[in-house]
Amino acid sequence: MTEPIQSKASQHGNPLPKRVLSGMRPTGKLHLGNYMGALYNWVRLQHEYECYFFIADWHALTTDYADTSNVKQNILDVALDWLGAGLDSDRATLFVQSWVPQHAELHLLFSMITPLGWLERVPSYKEQQENLREKDLGTYGFLGYPLLQSADILIYQADLVPVGQDQVAHVELTREVARRFNFFYPEKPLVLPEPQALLTPSPKLPGTDGRKMSKSYGNTVLMSDPEPVIRQKLKTMVTDPARIRRSDPGNPDVCPVFDLHKIFSSAETQQKVREGCTTAGIGCIECKGWLADGVVAELAPIQERRRSFESDPDHVWEILREGSARARLRADQTMQQVRDAMHLPQIGTAPAGAAR
Ligand code: TRP
Ligand code: SF4
Repeated sequence: MTEPIQSKASQHGNPLPKRVLSGMRPTGKLHLGNYMGALYNWVRLQHEYECYFFIADWHALTTDYADTSNVKQNILDVALDWLGAGLDSDRATLFVQSWVPQHAELHLLFSMITPLGWLERVPSYKEQQENLREKDLGTYGFLGYPLLQSADILIYQADLVPVGQDQVAHVELTREVARRFNFFYPEKPLVLPEPQALLTPSPKLPGTDGRKMSKSYGNTVLMSDPEPVIRQKLKTMVTDPARIRRSDPGNPDVCPVFDLHKIFSSAETQQKVREGCTTAGIGCIECKGWLADGVVAELAPIQERRRSFESDPDHVWEILREGSARARLRADQTMQQVRDAMHLPQIGTAPAGAAR
């Protein structure tokens, strides 16, 4: 599919790899849009950088606080898809946000220095409130969502934040918060360096109805869908609307099926589709069958790995616990610098025999 990411660190002979951090809300089983838009890229990044990837369960609560019954299962499902895709706990620190409570501590300190207007102006704030009218998002936590994200990023003193276009405003806010913190509490070197968004070069990935693939549209193909389900879902996918009869030639450039071919099919298959479609030499059902072949082949090794982890969920939770312990150590390091910079007393350790 895409060529590997060149390591900026190794290019310049710098022995210290940059630190990468990103998070994903636990929305349950991931779909091809999640895979191509984030995971696929993360798997490559873990070979080049010091990576921290976390499941943002607190972020999920900012919109889904009324029914939290699925949180644990959703965390496990996301972790299974991560491990299936090839994220490797020996290469990257994989953790759960709520298991690193330091994120909340830094978020609270940030809440002291962040003007309300900065949060009210974040574009996703008003947009989401309008899109999710059925939920009351007039909460303190929802307004603070991007500030919690700033804490997620800055607590690892991350250099790079791989995100999609929709998250760039949040990284921008993070940079402003870092700047304000460093202005009030200047240290040399600066305690909170400004991170950069690493824009995922994600191709447009339509769902079966032709709109952007998204859980809320119900148009997804899941990474874990069995082969017959994948084939069935793709069979119902919308095509070039002008191609009504089998004898009508079609135009792949306006067909969402072809958008997926560009990602999942070989150049030869794409050429065969273009030829057959524009001359009415093939039917859409045949074309979608070839697409399904490509998707099934891409997912086969991922699903096999997922199944092996699925058979031992305790092991998956153990991976997340171990990653979270590592993340806490790293987060603590930053918090000590933050407390020093703010002239707050250090927590330190309890004297022996303090517990009663
Ligand atoms: N807000 C992100 C999303 O909805 C998830 C997220 C939370 C995140 N904290 C983060 C992403 C920190 C990058 C860095 O996709
Ligand atoms: Fe789309 Fe393929 Fe049908 Fe052409 S043959 S309209 S590319 S589904």
